[in-house]
Amino acid sequence: MSRTTLRDIDAAYREGESITMLTAYDAPIARLVDRSGVDIVLVGDSAGHNHLGYDDTLPVTMDEALSNTAAVARGTEEAMVLADMPFMSYGASIEQSVESAGRFLKEAGADGVKLETAPDGGITVEIIDRLTSLGIPVQGHLGLTPQRVKEMGGPVVQGREGADSEFADQVVKTACELEAAGIFSLVIEGTTEELAKRLTEAVDVPTIGIGAGRYVDGQVLVTNDVIGLDSEGYGLSKQYADVDSVIEDAASEFVREVRDGAFPTEEHAYEPIEEE
Ligand code: KIV
Repeated sequence: MSRTTLRDIDAAYREGESITMLTAYDAPIARLVDRSGVDIVLVGDSAGHNHLGYDDTLPVTMDEALSNTAAVARGTEEAMVLADMPFMSYGASIEQSVESAGRFLKEAGADGVKLETAPDGGITVEIIDRLTSLGIPVQGHLGLTPQRVKEMGGPVVQGREGADSEFADQVVKTACELEAAGIFSLVIEGTTEELAKRLTEAVDVPTIGIGAGRYVDGQVLVTNDVIGLDSEGYGLSKQYADVDSVIEDAASEFVREVRDGAFPTEEHAYEPIEEE
């Protein structure tokens, strides 16, 4: 099978198939996740806390994001690989944003980029317009946008004022502007189900929800949460496995066996080369 393209995503959306997206930050996880048949692997800036040991997404640098993206691109064969543009790698100017986005495609092998957008759109809409006009596939991201955590005062669920509030009208307007700017899909994170439904009805590109309920065109989860790998237990996520205990048990058994002399045994030792 060849790599998933924008056309495949669009065709799946038009046929009413749910779009699936999972995160990966390195080649081994990307390789394993890719085997699931997932449509898109997102090299999220959630690498900040899930992979790089930061408190949140804000410190993630371009170098770290490029390195993670290149590893994921090497590890996948079928899924589309999207790079999440780190905080402050875009927005200073159109030029800076184009340069950063271009590096993900040129240097890291990404198939496109994702950019978070404020509820009122602002410069991000202009940036996305320029990126798509240059042929860079862009996924939008509205709702609870973690790069604005300082401004929001925490990871605050968006849209609780009601789906017909002024705030909801503003977010819907921004979603339509993003669509006009050429996004091929839109992540909706941490909103009420009603707001996500309104957004999904407002745009003619697939919406991909996380903590946004049922009335969207697809779902994305953070793989650490899905497999139970040092997961912070993102609200409304679902854990399908407990990798922590597998790793902890294996590591503890190794330590015990080395201390007890049970590992290594003769079968773990090299023999000298036999002379003929
Ligand atoms: O960084 C990330 O993992 C994301 C997803 C939660 C959509 O942006």
